[in-house]
Amino acid sequence: MVDAEIRELAAHVGEVVRIQGWLYNKRSSGKLLFLVLRDGSGYVQAVVFRAGVEERVWAAAEALTQESSLRVTGTVKEDRRSPGGVEIEVADIETVALCPDYPISPKEHGVDFLLNNRHLWLRSKRQHAIMRVRNELVFGIREFFYTRHYVNIDSPILTPAACEGTSTLFETDYFGEKAYLSQSGQLYLEPAAAAHGKVYCFGPTFRAEKSKTRRHLMEFWMVEPEVAWMRFDALLDLAEEFVSELVARILDRCQQELAWLERDTSKLEPATSRPYPRIDYGDAVARLQHKGFPTQFGDDFGGDEETALADESGKPVMITRYPAAIKAFYMEPDPVDPSRALAVDMIAPEGYGEIIGGSERIGSYEKLEERIREHGLPRQAFEWYLDIRKYGGFPHSGFGMGIERVVSWLCGLSHLREAIPYPRMLNRLYP
Ligand code: 4AD
Ligand code: MG
Repeated sequence: MVDAEIRELAAHVGEVVRIQGWLYNKRSSGKLLFLVLRDGSGYVQAVVFRAGVEERVWAAAEALTQESSLRVTGTVKEDRRSPGGVEIEVADIETVALCPDYPISPKEHGVDFLLNNRHLWLRSKRQHAIMRVRNELVFGIREFFYTRHYVNIDSPILTPAACEGTSTLFETDYFGEKAYLSQSGQLYLEPAAAAHGKVYCFGPTFRAEKSKTRRHLMEFWMVEPEVAWMRFDALLDLAEEFVSELVARILDRCQQELAWLERDTSKLEPATSRPYPRIDYGDAVARLQHKGFPTQFGDDFGGDEETALADESGKPVMITRYPAAIKAFYMEPDPVDPSRALAVDMIAPEGYGEIIGGSERIGSYEKLEERIREHGLPRQAFEWYLDIRKYGGFPHSGFGMGIERVVSWLCGLSHLREAIPYPRMLNRLYP
């Protein structure tokens, strides 16, 4: 007898194995009990024949309730009809802990109830699948950068100043000084690009977004590459290569999960091929007006506008060269028209909105000083950031991609709250 994980059972056909897990579901038909077991690695059906087991084993099987923890010993049988290709013929059951009235039953529950029980909801098949996709995405991101010789540089979470505007800062007390939870690791990454050339950070970021939308979380994970000597056009290529490779990877490696999520994968296919459409901000405004939106040149785009811009090709689209006035202070002005910034937003199709925001960074010390002043930012908190332009300044560019936005898109979720293990939202800090 060997201990086995459910995912590897196909390699144990004919052998006696022991599985440790939980009861996902149970159904009986007279002299047979069908137990669906899960152990985190997968699901398998275990069949108990009344005539084939000791009375004690039958009684144990009958007493099992949903989510009871148990060890099951039995023979692995090939079974073409079942999802993993195998089932277990049960010889013995050891109940570890009987579960009383599990709160989440297979019936429909309200979202608030499920979120209050997020610690249990994670066990559900859909949630399990989503976390698997997230896991694959995160690993794919790290592999993408590792194989291209980027260096991972972790940025701090407690910071003395804002990066992405002062309206969404979480403030905290730092031994009598004000500190803020990081909105982005970017500012700390730029110096690291001077040290290593190609770098990225990947961590939690925080935005006190006082809006309740399906696209905003207070705490989300962002991956941010920053590349020395890279100009704006090359940044667009990088973003496109990054996203197309990641989508292809998920389609290839998460087929089972996407099937459980009933994701129409034909909707993701277009994003695996390059190039993606690139639309100048001015043209984007014209397109929106043509579609009947009241958008004016100079306006930022909301969710509806983003959806309308990305619904044509089925691919993500990149909107470029936004007016500098509606973008962050650190963005390099467009040399052709300095009222515009060398900024890009990548918008995912199917209404998933902005997944990437990035830009070339201001190279000049004087220009950056001026921007810090114009944005009313405290100069002394940015002295170190200005130093990057003082001591061997260099052109550089980077972007940030929100993990939950991408997971939502890949999995076809209706809200970001399911794309992160423990969502932090306007009215939710529990569990
Ligand atoms: O466009 P943002 O604000 O860009 C930055 O923070 C830059 N400093 C990144 C960089 O250039 N290194 O955010 C980047 C991405 C967005 O495109 C979106 O995917 C995600 O982060 N994002 C959020 N995701 C969930 N909830 C929120 N409240 C988010 N705000 C931004
Ligand atoms: Mg943005």
